[in-house]
Amino acid sequence: MWIDGTVAKRKDWNEKLFSLFIRADIPTFIPGQFIKVALPFEDKRIGRAYSLVNQPGDLLEILVVAVENGTLSPALANLSVGDDLQVSDRASGFMTLDEITPCRDLWMLATGTAVGPFISMLRSAEVWASFTNIVLVYGVRNADDLAYLDELRNLEKQRPQFSLCLSVTRESFQGAYKDRITALISSGELEQTTGLTINAQNSHFMLCGNPQMVSETQTILKELGLSPHLKRQPGQITIEKYW
Ligand SMILES: Cc1cc2nc3c(=O)[nH]c(=O)nc-3n(C[C@H](O)[C@H](O)[C@H](O)COP(=O)(O)OP(=O)(O)OC[C@H]3O[C@@H](n4cnc5c(N)ncnc54)[C@H](O)[C@@H]3O)c2cc1C
Ligand SMILES: NC(=O)c1ccc[n+]([C@@H]2O[C@H](COP(=O)([O-])OP(=O)(O)OC[C@H]3O[C@@H](n4cnc5c(N)ncnc54)[C@H](OP(=O)(O)O)[C@@H]3O)[C@@H](O)[C@H]2O)c1
Repeated sequence: MWIDGTVAKRKDWNEKLFSLFIRADIPTFIPGQFIKVALPFEDKRIGRAYSLVNQPGDLLEILVVAVENGTLSPALANLSVGDDLQVSDRASGFMTLDEITPCRDLWMLATGTAVGPFISMLRSAEVWASFTNIVLVYGVRNADDLAYLDELRNLEKQRPQFSLCLSVTRESFQGAYKDRITALISSGELEQTTGLTINAQNSHFMLCGNPQMVSETQTILKELGLSPHLKRQPGQITIEKYW
């Protein structure tokens, strides 16, 4: 089911990457979940999934990249404050903190816009009460793709239990690795920087974004003894592929 929404605000991070703030009356949701957003195209409606960045109760906030030759995302990029769109009447998705088994270290791995659901979790009180250590590994092509960077850096200053590891793969950027997330795990670089050992006993990984990154990282983590987290068989790896 679809309901009407309106663009209440937008923030542009670069010429292709933007956050839309949407006024729409959906029931509460759990950080990590996504909604569907749709626009009319000639005689049909095209809808796609977008993770919520906001906290329940706030304006719906989504982080979107305008994909080259994409259908919906370039049209979303053209929206202005006051424009209408449609959203699903509820949020869904299982990449949420209530779905995972409690453990010591939470690792959040994101490429591109997939940082969004992790920002939503990091804005919640629950995450800070549930884990001793929280690591966000955020991989992008270029430095100006690092949305929400000031917020994340402030969080790092305020929260000793939080580590922010940036990967900027197509240019040098101070304070960021140039290697892909997969290479940073394989080389042991992430463990060295954070001082945390990746193992099945203490770690839970949430992987989100580029499907190749998710698949390749899963393979590496399995070699380290971790297993997929399934309803019928709890494990340490939760995934969400964006395409
Ligand atoms: C659960 C879920 C949550 C999602 N959350 C977000 C989100 O928060 N923000 C967001 O921008 N997208 C998100 N996506 C992707 C989004 O649903 C669309 O697929 C995307 O906006 C492209 O739609 P389109 O109609 O413009 O492109 P289409 O015409 O459908 O073309 C799709 C192609 O675009 C590329 N692509 C799709 N999404 C991305 C992306 N995010 N980054 C890079 N390349 C991509 C892939 O090559 C894909 O094959 C999510 C997808 C899923 C399944
Ligand atoms: N200037 C532009 O034209 C521009 C800029 C940004 C985005 N875009 C558009 O946005 C879309 C999405 O781009 P995006 O940058 O958000 O997403 P992306 O292509 O998924 O890249 C995000 C990060 O993921 C890394 N990555 C890709 N495959 C990986 C793998 N198998 N394992 C580990 N890491 C991997 C990339 O590294 P690598 O750099 O090594 O691939 C990059 O650091 C593009 O399709 C394009 O349409 C365009």
